[in-house]
Amino acid sequence: MKWTVRKFRAAKGGEPMGLVTAYDFLTARMAARAGVPLVLVGDSLATTALGHATTLPATMDAMIHHAEAVRRGAPDAVVVGDMPFLSYATVPDALRNAGRFLREAGCDAVKLEGGVSKAGTIRALVEEGIPVQAHIGLQPQSVKSTGYAVRGRTPEDAAALEADIDAVTAAGAFSVVLECVVPELAAALTKRVDVPTIGVGSGPDCDAQYLVLADLLGLGDGPVPKFAKQYARLADEAAAAISAYRAEVASRAYPDASFTY
Ligand code: KIV
Repeated sequence: MKWTVRKFRAAKGGEPMGLVTAYDFLTARMAARAGVPLVLVGDSLATTALGHATTLPATMDAMIHHAEAVRRGAPDAVVVGDMPFLSYATVPDALRNAGRFLREAGCDAVKLEGGVSKAGTIRALVEEGIPVQAHIGLQPQSVKSTGYAVRGRTPEDAAALEADIDAVTAAGAFSVVLECVVPELAAALTKRVDVPTIGVGSGPDCDAQYLVLADLLGLGDGPVPKFAKQYARLADEAAAAISAYRAEVASRAYPDASFTY
């Protein structure tokens, strides 16, 4: 089935949807084969695929390059381009860079971090016909000022998150990522709005969940966040396969006659 932003929005309140990130043609094909309705070309590209310590080094050019490949790999999914650090600091920057995701990479929508403070930016993009996924709660692009703290633990912080979700949905966001929000509050925020919420470490009551594909598949060899369930350990299998290949080359078992013209 061909997914659109409108269909995704209408899926609010139905069966919870498992969504993933993808960074290239191969990972997008995997998500497409599994029928994932919406794929995020996350700025987690910087940490998972490019080896940086934070998402801050992701650039617009890198994001576009990878988003083009994801689009080719997942033609039927909604493909969302993640606006990297400082690419939407002003409304003109946001319009130009979000436009690049749609025009150059063929994305269907963009995602950006921020609540009340970014509502004006979201409105400006939506008014130009660019669907926006908002991202509130823990915002990794602000790690230098906020750290990686769980959100919504105090009444004041819960009220701030309510104000954030009200602002981004009033501005026209078609969905809202809730990252590391305490589960009871994430459930209440999900009930509060008429667009899908997508949880990242925010408990089971969101309309959808995101998992970074590298975490889900065990593609890395470092620790993963507490909320990230590893459904496979592909890096271990891959390293074992490469070791087996090296051993067979060394012993001349590979290539034998059956692999030779
Ligand atoms: O970049 C990313 O992978 C993200 C998701 C975790 C929401 O922003």
